[in-house]
Amino acid sequence: MKTAIRYYTRSGNTKKLADAISGAVGVPALTVAEPLTERVDILFLGCSYYAFDVDEAVKAFVSQNKANIGRLVLFGTSAMMKSVYKPMKKVADLNGVELEKEDFHCRGSFGPAHKGRPNADDCKKCAEFAVKALER
Ligand SMILES: Cc1cc2nc3c(=O)[nH]c(=O)nc-3n(C[C@H](O)[C@H](O)[C@H](O)COP(=O)(O)O)c2cc1C
Repeated sequence: MKTAIRYYTRSGNTKKLADAISGAVGVPALTVAEPLTERVDILFLGCSYYAFDVDEAVKAFVSQNKANIGRLVLFGTSAMMKSVYKPMKKVADLNGVELEKEDFHCRGSFGPAHKGRPNADDCKKCAEFAVKALER
């Protein structure tokens, strides 16, 4: 099964999860600045909330790489949201991309809030989530 990891981060929180997934599934974690060079069965895509939405760079990545995305599996961090599923479902539908219903989401540090998150436990849980997603 071909797998890839892409993420968008502003302060490094989502990169921590991407690196944890990379360690668990054995493919490099790259930013959304790196297009997919071949079709993958599963794309793990990481992003966070900024002003109640995901960044335009994430939306553009899906649009520009849709032909190479088999199934999209989301992971992300935020200060107070539960999931990036809702805004990303719109993006997936717009581009005809299959989106896994279950995603991984945890707190990410934001100013004085949630210092140290994602922490080692978040990263472990995210890695376990990714391994299970490969089995589905
Ligand atoms: C400009 C800005 C806007 C944000 N807006 C939200 C928001 O609307 N909802 C939320 O839960 N977190 C919000 N956050 C917190 C980020 O989602 C959180 O810090 C996240 O972990 C950042 O991930 P990153 O370091 O990978 O960019 C915001 C952070 C910034 C810098």
